[in-house]
Amino acid sequence: MIDVAPARIDWVAEHCRLLRSISAEFKDTLPFRGLTIGTGIHLEAKTVALLLTLRDGGARLVSTGNLNTTQPDAVAALRAEGVVVIGEPTKDREEHGRYLGEVIAARPDLILDNGGDLFATYLDASYDGLRGGTEETTSGRMRLAPLRDRLKLPILVINDSPIKQFAENEHAVGQSTLESYLRFTNRVTNGEQVTVFGYGACGRGVAASFRGACARVTVVDTDPVARLRAHLDGFAAPPREEAIASADVIITVTGARDVLTAADLPLLRDGVILANAGHFPAEIDVEAMAGSAAVAGRREYADDLMTLELTDGRRIHVISRGHMLNLAGPRPLGNSIESMDLGFALQARCLEAVANGSVDASSCVVPVPGRIDAAIATSYLDRKYPAAP
Ligand SMILES: NC(=O)c1ccc[n+]([C@@H]2O[C@H](COP(=O)([O-])OP(=O)(O)OC[C@H]3O[C@@H](n4cnc5c(N)ncnc54)[C@H](O)[C@@H]3O)[C@@H](O)[C@H]2O)c1
Repeated sequence: MIDVAPARIDWVAEHCRLLRSISAEFKDTLPFRGLTIGTGIHLEAKTVALLLTLRDGGARLVSTGNLNTTQPDAVAALRAEGVVVIGEPTKDREEHGRYLGEVIAARPDLILDNGGDLFATYLDASYDGLRGGTEETTSGRMRLAPLRDRLKLPILVINDSPIKQFAENEHAVGQSTLESYLRFTNRVTNGEQVTVFGYGACGRGVAASFRGACARVTVVDTDPVARLRAHLDGFAAPPREEAIASADVIITVTGARDVLTAADLPLLRDGVILANAGHFPAEIDVEAMAGSAAVAGRREYADDLMTLELTDGRRIHVISRGHMLNLAGPRPLGNSIESMDLGFALQARCLEAVANGSVDASSCVVPVPGRIDAAIATSYLDRKYPAAP
């Protein structure tokens, strides 16, 4: 009888099948031998599998997390494997900035970034020898694309792989946002009016998942083409004010700042629940809402739930103060293991391509090369549909 439950990290590693096979290959080929990789990505069980794969490829790793998502057991597992992990879980931007500075001070040869934090920090303290790297997210691409002239390095944007778009952003973010909404609130979705801000890949998944959970879903998007798409997909797509005023739940997932602000307080229904699934905790301006003259008080609950009590008696509930809900709160699991295995296999192969020089500075903030997408898709499908003996 097994008397000690295997750690979740082991369960995750077991099911990251693509990373496991890349890791076995990297132990022979050592694509990162003698190189330091600086990483700034959510530290949770799936990223442990990615970082250890890079370590198996010969890299020395200097790693930090993102705001509010660092999981202590992931940090402990990495440190036990000899990975240098800088910092502790934090919601404090300045503290996070110091951790990023320490990663850059280690003068990594390659950077694995999430949200553009490390490349932006590098531009303030640049050094010779950085070969380039990868950026994981939409938000990071939006931040780094205007900086191409200063970066002048190969930087492959994992987010812009079609595989990342449909496997993670659409399907997995939809599922994990729904799972996290239920985990945080324990509230019903059936028959509730849910308004989703943003109908990109993530928003499409969130809208579809809540529809699947029998919610009535409305979509708001500033892009009329995306709004039309939502309408033709069968979602209500009324003007913004109408969508806010009718909502029992509002979820932002746009990559933009100030999507919901204190100016929207007069529109919100009594009892509305606000949550953000976008990368940065800037989509809902929670602090300005809480500091508004319309707010008489606030109640804090366990598990990072908060209620703003308005002077007119309405109550506005906020999940995790607007931090990305699927990696926050009690027992956060994030996106499905398989979706992250696909995205992280892209990461490993893209970093390998930058390390071996098969992409150059003309590939600055560009999508994953098609040959890498095809190889990862083939590898995943070969495991699902093995050739007949
Ligand atoms: N929670 C997660 O696990 C997870 C995973 C991947 C990406 N993300 C993040 O989710 C966010 C969205 O990613 P995406 O890939 O869907 O981006 P996207 O660029 O494909 O779509 C964003 C959509 O939001 C719309 N939009 C922008 N500003 C808006 C506003 N003020 N109001 C309404 N709509 C607005 C845009 O027009 C666009 O259609 C990003 O921050 C991304 O980094 C989160």
